[in-house]
Amino acid sequence: MKTILVTGGMGFIGSHICVSLLEQGHQVIIVDNLCNSNKEVLNRINQITGKAPIFYSVDLLNEEALSAVFKRHNMDAVIHLAALKAVGKSSQIPLSYYHNNVSGSLVLLKVMEKYEVFNLVFSSSATVYGAKNPIPYVEHFPLSATNPYGRTKVMIEDILQDIFHADSRWNISLLRYFNPIGAHPSGLIGEDPKGIPNNLMPFITQVAVGQRDRLSIFGGDYPTPDGTGVRDYIHVVDLALGHLKALEKLMASSVKSISAYNLGAGKGYSVLNVVSAFEKASGKEIKYSITSRREGDLAEFFADVTKANNELGWQVSRSLDEMCEDAWNWQRKNPEGYS
Ligand code: NAD
Ligand code: WQD
Repeated sequence: MKTILVTGGMGFIGSHICVSLLEQGHQVIIVDNLCNSNKEVLNRINQITGKAPIFYSVDLLNEEALSAVFKRHNMDAVIHLAALKAVGKSSQIPLSYYHNNVSGSLVLLKVMEKYEVFNLVFSSSATVYGAKNPIPYVEHFPLSATNPYGRTKVMIEDILQDIFHADSRWNISLLRYFNPIGAHPSGLIGEDPKGIPNNLMPFITQVAVGQRDRLSIFGGDYPTPDGTGVRDYIHVVDLALGHLKALEKLMASSVKSISAYNLGAGKGYSVLNVVSAFEKASGKEIKYSITSRREGDLAEFFADVTKANNELGWQVSRSLDEMCEDAWNWQRKNPEGYS
């Protein structure tokens, strides 16, 4: 049994990671300031696993409070998810994004160094491949970003490269997520965005429960098979299991390293593919209108997942149909999310 700190563990992806960690018998410590999550998540994790994580309502920017958590628990590793993630908002309030994501990571790294915790799994994103790389994206491609949110991820990856090269005690896994959707099959935890969803799947599920009238499909004239945007959707449970594989590798190897891994399914589906898979899974009609493209969107991207397959021994096993069934099960059972 290891003791794992999960920053942002109350959020959409973090809560699923906590379930997987607890199911594997690890002790889980969560640090989260609840700026985009709900305390009810703790009860739900407990209902699924029969175990409770230890929770600290702490902001990563609060070095003193974070240090107190490290002083109290002997961590074996940290999974660092805590971040602000709304792409559009990041262009409106860039300073908040840089401060929260980059400064928050710096505080965490400083405290980890102080308490000599050097195993780190970092939540990066496919957004670090920018707009110019060919598809599928491979880990060695040059990184860039087209918005402040994406730049925070590139900056943090650069910072992690620098600290690794300066101090060989660090052991770091950079996980670049593609498009995580779906929910735990119990329907007890899932994605609960505040306000109007920015992402496709929560928008679709809210249309299905009648909270929104219709989906706007952003662009029908892309150079893709049906004209709508193509993405690499990954079930959030498969994504969570990828973290366990990355952790296992970090803790088993005697040679310290920093490695990036794409976590995706390795294939693309269009917006219309997702809409029809969801309609099949839910039995609900999803009304939609095709509108203009969303600024900053790319036509198509998906992952090359060879490296994660070979080095982590990880691959996805859940289909788009299961992603839709589980997203629908969550939304149907929790029409108002956690509140
Ligand atoms: P989320 O908003 O549901 O979870 C993030 C959690 O971090 C929230 O619970 C929030 O309260 C917490 N948090 C934010 N700032 C904090 C701070 N300063 N101190 C303490 N807690 C803080 O988001 P998610 O979808 O679960 O994403 C988790 C991570 O994965 C993020 O780093 C995100 O950038 C990354 N990511 C997400 C996606 C996606 O599509 N969801 C894709 C790629 C990468
Ligand atoms: C998917 C597809 C849209 C909403 C974002 C971030 C990325 C990563 C994952 C964090 C696209 C279309 C969407 C809607 C639509 N997050 N769409 N109508 O943009 O691929 O990636 O989340 O790291 O950085 O940019 O995901 O779910 O917003 O969009 O037509 O109401 O659905 O145009 O083709 P995206 P998404």
